[in-house]
Amino acid sequence: MPLTDQSTSLLRSRVRPMRLTTMLVGVLSSAAAWGAFPDSMSAPPGWTGLKFKLSQAYPTALPTSAADTAKPWLAFDFKQPTQAPQYMQAVLDYCMEGNVDLTSPQKSFSDISTNSVRGWYHAPWLHPGREFMHGMTNERKSQAKQLGPAQTTPQTNWAVGFYNPLGGHTLGQVWKNETAPDPAKAQFPQGTVSCKLLFTNAPLTQVPYLKGSLVWHADILRQKDLKARPTVRLLQLDIAIKDGRAPATGWVFGTFQYEKAASTSAQWWKHMVPVGLMWGNDLTNIKANQPPTEQWINTDRGQKLHLGFRGLLNGPIDNPQASCVACHGFAQVPKSVANPTPALPKTNTWSKTMSNGNIDIYFQTIGAATPVSSSYQSLDYSLQLQSGFAKFASAHAAATGPASHAAASLAVPPVPEVKR
Ligand code: HEC
Repeated sequence: MPLTDQSTSLLRSRVRPMRLTTMLVGVLSSAAAWGAFPDSMSAPPGWTGLKFKLSQAYPTALPTSAADTAKPWLAFDFKQPTQAPQYMQAVLDYCMEGNVDLTSPQKSFSDISTNSVRGWYHAPWLHPGREFMHGMTNERKSQAKQLGPAQTTPQTNWAVGFYNPLGGHTLGQVWKNETAPDPAKAQFPQGTVSCKLLFTNAPLTQVPYLKGSLVWHADILRQKDLKARPTVRLLQLDIAIKDGRAPATGWVFGTFQYEKAASTSAQWWKHMVPVGLMWGNDLTNIKANQPPTEQWINTDRGQKLHLGFRGLLNGPIDNPQASCVACHGFAQVPKSVANPTPALPKTNTWSKTMSNGNIDIYFQTIGAATPVSSSYQSLDYSLQLQSGFAKFASAHAAATGPASHAAASLAVPPVPEVKR
C-alpha cells in the first residue's frame, strides 16, 4: 500500500488493540523467559522525558499470522531495473506502517513493541552504547565533504535498527538463554526484514538537503548538555531483506537518502529517495574494474553522494571503500576461543588501493547463514547480533576472566567487530 499524506495506516495507535492471544503468550512464556536485557545507557536521575525501551518480547514460535508474515515486496522482481525501486518502496512502506507518529515526530519508532500492525524487535546487548532517548548507537563519523559539498567539518552519526516478527523470532532463539546465547540459532527465515534509521548531527548549513527531515533529540553528548537538546536529522534509511531470489547471498540490501527537493510533501518519508539495492558483490567485475552488476543504482537521485568500493552500493554514512554485502557477510563469530584462526579480515583496512588478493577476501561471496570457514559460525548477515555478542563477551570476560569465559563456550570474536 503506497503511503499518502492522508494515509492513517502508518500512524501509531495510542492504545494497543487487545490481542488476547498475544497477551497470553506474552504472559505465559516470553515475558518469563526474556525481558531482562537492559534498554540503554542510563538516563539522568529524575528524567521524565522520552526514554528508549528495548523491544524484547521476541515471538516464541515462528510467526504465522497474516500481518506478521506479509511480504508485499515479493510482488516485485528486484533484479529488474524498473521494479527495483518498487521493491524498495514496498519494504519502506512496510517499515513505516504503524511506526510513524505524525503529531510528535520524537515518538516515531519510539516504542515499536506497541505497533498495532505488527511488532518490531531490537537486537539485545547493544545497550552499553545505546543513548537513552531513542536507543541509537554511534555510527561511522563522516569526514568533511562526505555528506555533500557544504559539509566543512567532520560529523558524528547515530542509528537505530529493528527486525520484523520473523527476524524477532530468530533474535529470541539466539538469546533464549540470556547467559549463553547460541550463535547456531542465527538462521533468519525467508521474509525477515531489518530496517535501520541513520541520523547525522551535522547542522543544516552543512547538509541543507535535510531540511524538513525527521529531527530527534538524543543523548549524543552523554548527558552533558541535555538542556541544549542536541538534535540529529534522519539522512539515511537502510533495509535488509532475506529473499531467496538473491542467488548467492540470500539477502537483499538497500538504502534510501532524505532529499528536501524530492517532494513538496510535509511528511518526511515522502522524501526518502532510493540510492540503490544490491544482492552480491560481483567479484569478477569488481576485480576487472568494471561496473558491478549484482545491484541497481538509482542514477536519478538528486543528491549524488558517494557510493562504496568501485561503485558497489553503500550509503552516504557508510565507508566509501566497502559495500553493504561485503561488510555484512562477515557477521560471524569463531567456533573456538582456543583456536580463533584464521582471523576474519580486519575491516579497518578497507582501502581504495586494495590488492586483488585482498579484494578476493573482502568481496568474496558468502552465503546466507554460511560460515566463512570451518572455524566460524555465521550470524546470517546480522552485524547487530555480532556486535551484541562482542559486547556480551567482553562484559562477561571482564566479570569472570577469560578462562570461565571459554568454559561457558562463548565464542569471542578474535578481531574487533566489523566496524563501519
Ligand atoms: C563497513 C561496514 C558496514 C557497511 C559497509 C554496511 N553496514 Fe550495515 N551494519 C554494520 C554494523 C557494524 C551494524 C551493526 C551495528 C549497528 O546497527 O550500527 C550494521 C547494521 C545494519 C542493519 C541492522 C541489522 C543488522 O544486520 O545488524 C541493517 C539493516 C544494515 N546494517 C543495512 C546496511 C545496508 C543497507 C548497507 C549498505 C547501504 C550497510 N548496512 C552497509 C556495518 C556495515
